[in-house]
Amino acid sequence: MADYKRPTVSIVGAGNVGEHVANLIAIKELANIKLLDLPKKAEDRVFEVVKGKALDMKQMASAIGVDVEIEGYTVTADGQGYEPLKDSDIVIITAGFPRKPGMSRDDLLSANVNIIRTVSERIALYAPNAVVIVVSNPVDVLTYATLKITKFPKNKVMGMAGVLDTARFKTFISKELKVSVSNINCFVVGGHGDEMVPLISASNVGGIPLTKLFSKEKLEEIIKRTKFGGGEIVNLMGTSAYHAPGASVAEMVETVLKDKKQIMPCSVYVDGEDARFYEAYDVCVGLPVKVGAHGWEEILKVELSEEERAMWHSSVKSVKEGIERIKELKLI
Ligand code: NAI
Ligand code: 2OP
Repeated sequence: MADYKRPTVSIVGAGNVGEHVANLIAIKELANIKLLDLPKKAEDRVFEVVKGKALDMKQMASAIGVDVEIEGYTVTADGQGYEPLKDSDIVIITAGFPRKPGMSRDDLLSANVNIIRTVSERIALYAPNAVVIVVSNPVDVLTYATLKITKFPKNKVMGMAGVLDTARFKTFISKELKVSVSNINCFVVGGHGDEMVPLISASNVGGIPLTKLFSKEKLEEIIKRTKFGGGEIVNLMGTSAYHAPGASVAEMVETVLKDKKQIMPCSVYVDGEDARFYEAYDVCVGLPVKVGAHGWEEILKVELSEEERAMWHSSVKSVKEGIERIKELKLI
């Protein structure tokens, strides 16, 4: 038997989301894990928290009989210490600031775009063949920035949002109907913002369209709760969600590592025939894509209803405004 080489997944930003992704990857024994983060200062001490988290997780792995390697590496904000990215099959970017109450995802733009620039340059240098999953917000704009800065082929860079937004949509449908989430087929596309687009025309429960299962008012209520699903949690916790986001990223990681060819909504670069179909040009935005070993392989062309198309255009416009802002800042 040929030697088995376990894949390596690196996570830049071992905060709430990064940690939860790492935990799930370890528990599912999907890959060896490298965590990279800044040192933390507390009073007059400097802690290498990321090394402690990695060691703690490695001991967790031992406790449950899992053999993955987990290492932590301290990096600097100006990009030193990134050599461990070498050999990464996937790099996940969860570095950045989370949303605080009253803050929109776009408020995060200026703070997070500088981080993305440094991280993307280091990924291009040390892990030129990796698939990159961007999580930091505003995710569609930062996915675009990552693609432009790394200069990777478009299929190697994807943003995580649609899997999370769809999970939220499914949660609320399942709670209303008291039916298993596994019977719910739906997609949320568009930008990861308040203007995201739940595709009602393509959604059903056990084959029955949502419009036959809910009154117009109830469906609107569920859609509204989905759109503001991130904000609801920020208001409750004082910081943004991490369990569902972590699980959504882990789902994407598993799909890539197992070359599952699963259809999932991801933020991807739209051009060519896809751009003409969706009337969205030079933008990264959430669409249903087939995901496999090399990243996303193709964008599915879903016919949108007139109402969905109007929402879609508005969502794309909002993402494009963010992209224009980072162009004005001369970051790409
Ligand atoms: P967090 O604050 O818990 O973790 C962020 C980590 O990034 C911290 O440990 C911090 O030290 C690290 N970091 C900051 N600058 C860095 C740098 N230059 N190099 C390396 N590490 C650096 O935040 P959390 O909750 O994990 O969220 C992370 C990001 O993910 C935020 O931007 C948040 O808005 C976003 N997010 C996106 C979601 C999505 O659906 N796309 C869902 C949830 C969060
Ligand atoms: C969320 O939707 C903050 O984007 C993050 O939970």
